[in-house]
Amino acid sequence: MELFEAIETRASAPRLTEPGPTAEDLHRILAAAERAPDHGRLKPWRLLVLSDEAREKFADAVVEARRKRPPEPTLEQLQLERDKVWRSPTLIVVGCVVVPNYAKVPEIEQVLAAGAAVENLFLAAHALGYGVMWKTGPAAYDSGVKASVGLRPEDHIVGIMHLGTRQQKPPGG
Ligand SMILES: Cc1cc2nc3c(=O)[nH]c(=O)nc-3n(C[C@H](O)[C@H](O)[C@H](O)COP(=O)(O)O)c2cc1C
Repeated sequence: MELFEAIETRASAPRLTEPGPTAEDLHRILAAAERAPDHGRLKPWRLLVLSDEAREKFADAVVEARRKRPPEPTLEQLQLERDKVWRSPTLIVVGCVVVPNYAKVPEIEQVLAAGAAVENLFLAAHALGYGVMWKTGPAAYDSGVKASVGLRPEDHIVGIMHLGTRQQKPPGG
């Protein structure tokens, strides 16, 4: 897909099924993310493609975060949180590992670079024909959830990226 067509047709894909990206496509998608503009060449982004085992650990942490957050959840609500983590074939958590107190590249610029990596990832996956959903929500700000994917409390989760095959055509598509 040509660049402007990809930009003009990009849209969230709320429902995703198998298949997820092939290994070759995933490689291209991650390489596109790595091409994001990056002040100071810090490469602050972490593109964490979760294995099933890592995803279960992430889901456990998401459930635990919800358990701690008022109002007290029902068992069904906790199960829903877990199911949401498993809603797509491929999950990539994009983190931003922050260099603190760096005057040349303030934290906001590091986060912006990580956000640009997410957009590159989104557009690349879309251009290859995959559906994408960019999620965050309260779990993204929870230290336990961050720790479950190897991030520190001061780091950021900038995107919980679900990839797969669209169940519905995109709007206007
Ligand atoms: C930083 C960021 C966080 C987002 N988090 C969520 C989220 O938690 N849940 C969600 O449904 N959509 C989330 N989105 C996706 C937006 O809701 C979506 O892009 C917006 O509704 C516009 O729809 P479109 O992508 O189809 O143009 C997020 C987008 C960004 C940029």
